Amino acid sequence: MVLKERRGRRSAINLLRAHKKRRRDRWFLGLLVLASLLVMGYSAFQTMRPKLHAVTTPVTHAAKPPQWPATVAASSEARRKCDDLRVLVDQRHTLSSDYVPKDLVSLHDYGVPILGSEALHLRREAAENLGRLVEDAAAYGEELVVASAYRSYRDQRTSHSRLASVYGAEAAGMSATPGHSQHQLGTAVDFTNAAASYQVWLPFGETSASLWLEHNAWKYGFILAYPSGKEDETGYQWEPWHYRYVGVENARRIVESGVSLQKFLEREGVTPRC
Ligand code: DAL
Ligand code: ZN
Repeated sequence: MVLKERRGRRSAINLLRAHKKRRRDRWFLGLLVLASLLVMGYSAFQTMRPKLHAVTTPVTHAAKPPQWPATVAASSEARRKCDDLRVLVDQRHTLSSDYVPKDLVSLHDYGVPILGSEALHLRREAAENLGRLVEDAAAYGEELVVASAYRSYRDQRTSHSRLASVYGAEAAGMSATPGHSQHQLGTAVDFTNAAASYQVWLPFGETSASLWLEHNAWKYGFILAYPSGKEDETGYQWEPWHYRYVGVENARRIVESGVSLQKFLEREGVTPRC
């Protein structure tokens, strides 16, 4: 009888132990699955992170000069045409969306004062001459600050859309649509200064610095691209702040002949095929 009781107790204990073991095994398996899921999730996050960053990075004037895309480098013949300082870009002549000048440099490296903290770029030759221009203007007591320089096709699209959202159809005479801006050439700049409240607007045209530019910018290869009274030729309202670098020799010929930059480029310019 006692023996029977002992056997019964032992088998109950064994049953309890087996039950506890099963419970431990289930916990262990659960923890194993959870750990695997965490490891898999973490690796998936690591793989996706660079893509997310690329998509959400805002369009800015990058601190490093924008690079010519490798896929387009092959069409160097076409690109050379657009690197010509006399390329005609207006409301009828278009630059390709992937045209980026290859010799962009930061204006900061040429001592040119710029508005804001983002780096601004121009082609090397234009930047060198602009550096001398602002230095000589300063020696005459004229402050010149660059508010905008090279703008990529995408930057121009952003800039044009912003203006169009404010001015509607009127924006067509104030801002070029993407592919039609001289800023994409890396040779155009917009000036401002304290006397114009550091804005890019018509009051800049009333400042002594603007007058100094009208008389002297050509000596450094820069020409006012959208003068007052030439709206029918250029398609744009007077922009006393917008100057384009065409090289000192071309600028001298434009001033001596008295033609507008637009007419000069229509006669002697290069049609963009890039
Ligand atoms: N404001 C000039 C026309 C441009 O957008 O290039
Ligand atoms: Zn401009």
